[in-house]
Amino acid sequence: MTKNILVTGGAGYIGSHTALQLLQGGYNVVVVDNLVNSSEIALHRVKQLASDFSNNLSYIKADIRDKEALDKIFSSTKFDAVIHFAGLKAVGESVEKPLLYYNNNLTGTINLLEVMSDHGCKMLVFSSSATVYGWPKEVPCTEEFPLSAANPYGRTKYFIEEICRDVQRSDGEWKIILLRYFNPVGAHPSGDIGEDPLGIPNNLMPYVQQVAVGRRPHLTVYGTDYNTKDGTGVRDYIHVVDLADGHIAALNKLFDTDLGCEVYNLGTGKGTTVLEMVTAFEKASGKKIPLVMAGRRPGDAEVVYASTEKAKRELNWKAKYGIEEMCRDQWNWASKNPYGYNSANDEE
Ligand code: NAD
Ligand code: WQD
Repeated sequence: MTKNILVTGGAGYIGSHTALQLLQGGYNVVVVDNLVNSSEIALHRVKQLASDFSNNLSYIKADIRDKEALDKIFSSTKFDAVIHFAGLKAVGESVEKPLLYYNNNLTGTINLLEVMSDHGCKMLVFSSSATVYGWPKEVPCTEEFPLSAANPYGRTKYFIEEICRDVQRSDGEWKIILLRYFNPVGAHPSGDIGEDPLGIPNNLMPYVQQVAVGRRPHLTVYGTDYNTKDGTGVRDYIHVVDLADGHIAALNKLFDTDLGCEVYNLGTGKGTTVLEMVTAFEKASGKKIPLVMAGRRPGDAEVVYASTEKAKRELNWKAKYGIEEMCRDQWNWASKNPYGYNSANDEE
């Protein structure tokens, strides 16, 4: 029997790639998204890419804080599981507007868990983040590391993880997988879907991409005095298609095994510096990325990368792509869609 999966935040960057992998894997997908940080065009593209499976995708525009709307969605379809991406994710904005972040991410998730419980749907995959490791004392980060958070956004991830653990402890019918993503980059190899941040990008690769297409003059490199091979920060970049596949592996785990609330890192296990990433992107794109060297960005960790052992062992999943493919696919998306899902005229 075809399984029905509710994907909250499915119009967004990771959600749209995951929705496509789900469709291609034979699942029925219902996306709920309020489009606060995304475009419905992404879902039209997902439909096109899914070709024979396109009819298995539907979209409902709703805010997950709207409990009545959620209740209606669960009344009309019996879901086998929920993949919960919906949330706000800009670290700087979360410092400026903590209540917005607590309201959106926490209230939204609590509503969702309540409605799921009311309708007897008790299987959940949640988008957590490597941000819950803060500035790790050592690397690679294993799932047992102590948790910390350096900003309100990070705290929403930490609190939601704890809420999920409590909910599962209180009712053993729940099965929950918390996925801690490292640094998702790249795009679908078609170049038809990818990351399209609103305004000035916060993250490295969307910024590099906008420099490459001429939307920004240079990249500012935050910190050149870290204790790393070239002085710049080290992260574990993971291809978004690998990440999407990690969600299919998590669903298989939920459907096939007994489990309570488990947490898995999704990363490659490899660390790459900012300058290595820029060089790889220059090679993939043939574009020069002008750099301005600057001081450290407040709150940034020096070196963060994942231990991937647990996901390998228990989800039977590991990342297939390296930074070359990440940069190739990011550039393919950027060159086909220099203004993302909008046109140049929409730029403010
Ligand atoms: P994204 O902003 O592209 O996607 C999030 C989606 O959720 C957007 O489409 C947005 O419109 C929607 N949304 C937000 N609040 C909503 C609400 N109240 N109701 C309905 N829809 C709502 O972000 P992404 O990069 O695809 O991230 C997906 C999830 O993964 C987020 O929870 C994010 O915190 C987490 N995550 C992202 C990264 C990353 O670097 N991209 C890393 C770790 C974790
Ligand atoms: C990567 C490296 C920067 C931009 C953030 C969030 C985290 C998670 C992923 C969701 C760092 C450097 C960046 C730029 C730069 N998101 N950099 N110039 O910091 O690992 O994590 O996104 O959960 O919560 O904090 O990713 O892409 O911002 O930075 O030099 O313009 O690139 O200093 O070393 P980060 P990032």
